[in-house]
Amino acid sequence: MPAIVLVGAQWGDEGKGKATDLLGSSVDYVVKFNGGNNAGHTVVIEKDGKREKYALHLLPSGILSPNCVPVIGNGVVIDLSVLFEELDGLEARGVDTSKLLVSANAHIIPSYNRTIDKVTERFLGKRRIGTTGRGIGPTYADKMNRIGIRIQDLYDEPILRQKVEAALAFKNQVLAKIYNTRAAAVDEVVAELLSYADRLAPMVADTSLVLGQALDRGETVLFEAGQATLLDVDHGTYPYVTSSNAVSAGACTGSGVPPTRIDSVIAILKAYTTRVGEGPFPTELHDDFGEFLRKTGAEYGTTTGRPRRCGWMDTVVGRYATRINGVTDFVITKLDVLTGLETVPVCVAYDVGGVRHDEMPVNQTDFHHATPIYEELPGWWEDITACRSFEELPANAQAYVLRVEELIGARVSAIGVGPGRDEIIERHPLKPAVAG
Ligand code: GDP
Ligand code: IMO
Ligand code: MG
Repeated sequence: MPAIVLVGAQWGDEGKGKATDLLGSSVDYVVKFNGGNNAGHTVVIEKDGKREKYALHLLPSGILSPNCVPVIGNGVVIDLSVLFEELDGLEARGVDTSKLLVSANAHIIPSYNRTIDKVTERFLGKRRIGTTGRGIGPTYADKMNRIGIRIQDLYDEPILRQKVEAALAFKNQVLAKIYNTRAAAVDEVVAELLSYADRLAPMVADTSLVLGQALDRGETVLFEAGQATLLDVDHGTYPYVTSSNAVSAGACTGSGVPPTRIDSVIAILKAYTTRVGEGPFPTELHDDFGEFLRKTGAEYGTTTGRPRRCGWMDTVVGRYATRINGVTDFVITKLDVLTGLETVPVCVAYDVGGVRHDEMPVNQTDFHHATPIYEELPGWWEDITACRSFEELPANAQAYVLRVEELIGARVSAIGVGPGRDEIIERHPLKPAVAG
């Protein structure tokens, strides 16, 4: 013990990468349990007096902590070309990636699913989801349809061929007859997948067993979510979601570590809200304040470079995240971005057709029509990036955090005041005490 789950509380890009990196030095394993290279986690590290920026997509952010074993769990979907590209990129920058473990049960994103992702979006037109185009949705669909390809299939060529043939028997109909695109050739797909097998072999493991044994030995395991609560396929703003379980419960199914072993759940909550892609967003701003947040917070996608939609803090969403994830600790990130505002609005509830909603409306249509009810909190002007204790923050910044804490219903244990590794205020230790 302990096992800690780290999730995003909003629509992603809350700063999960930075928070994971912060804990990386004190944990033994960091496990990615959902999603794939749709994620983009930025970590900024000070090296020899210079700030170095790392963007991680498929690999868990813990790979940047030298003593930590990075693990890709069974719940992840893996684009093998991206995996090796990312590993090569890190190795070239002097990061040791040799400890990486990859679940034998994780699913592979074959090239035809990238094609299907893109053409499906084109086909949907106005109703598109705004996916990252990485083949995530079609690969999870294949998994559920039982026509997916798993890592372990790379080591049984006849089985691999059989599975690719079975998948393409169906998929090529869709590609050629519905989408009018080139059908995929079984031989080409099999050859490409096999070309990765030898290099991958030493990394492939029964990761559920490895993690279970690590916990038995008293080691610490951190589960790092991709995406976030409102992008979760079951609990998010469906259909404008990703195709995996990004909430804390996903850490169990996505890794093979049971719920009884989880000790704490840390949720990352940006001091305002952003969203990439389509879908409802009650506090979204289409005015100068939205532009202020985008510019000051550098809100452009790590994966696709798309400008992020920006809006005020929504504590209905925060409260929902607390309940769905069983949050024990929040990390509020990017508080520094709110510096310089006369007042800082915080959404406390919604108005839907004249009816007040204090919780997420059960009906998605109501959520699409929700108007935020704001509480205006006084702003602050002082630069807070050098603050390292809660007491050093200006009184109004402290009051903002305390009011948000009250509204979301779980304690705020850390506050981000800048992108750097050390630009953080810790109010309570994020790593739970070792159970006796
Ligand atoms: P993730 O997907 O949740 O890991 O988040 P991203 O890395 O996509 O986006 C978060 C961005 O905010 C990154 O560029 C981080 O470097 C940056 N960041 C994280 N915490 C803070 C903070 O407290 N203040 C500021 N200004 N930037 C931060
Ligand atoms: P991190 O881990 C923000 C969004 C996409 C799209 C929807 C579905 O960096 O927080 P997909 O390609 O997953 O089928 O796209 O989900 N999305 C993200 N938005 N941050 C992410 O990851 C995201 N991963 C997917 O923009 O709206
Ligand atoms: Mg991101």
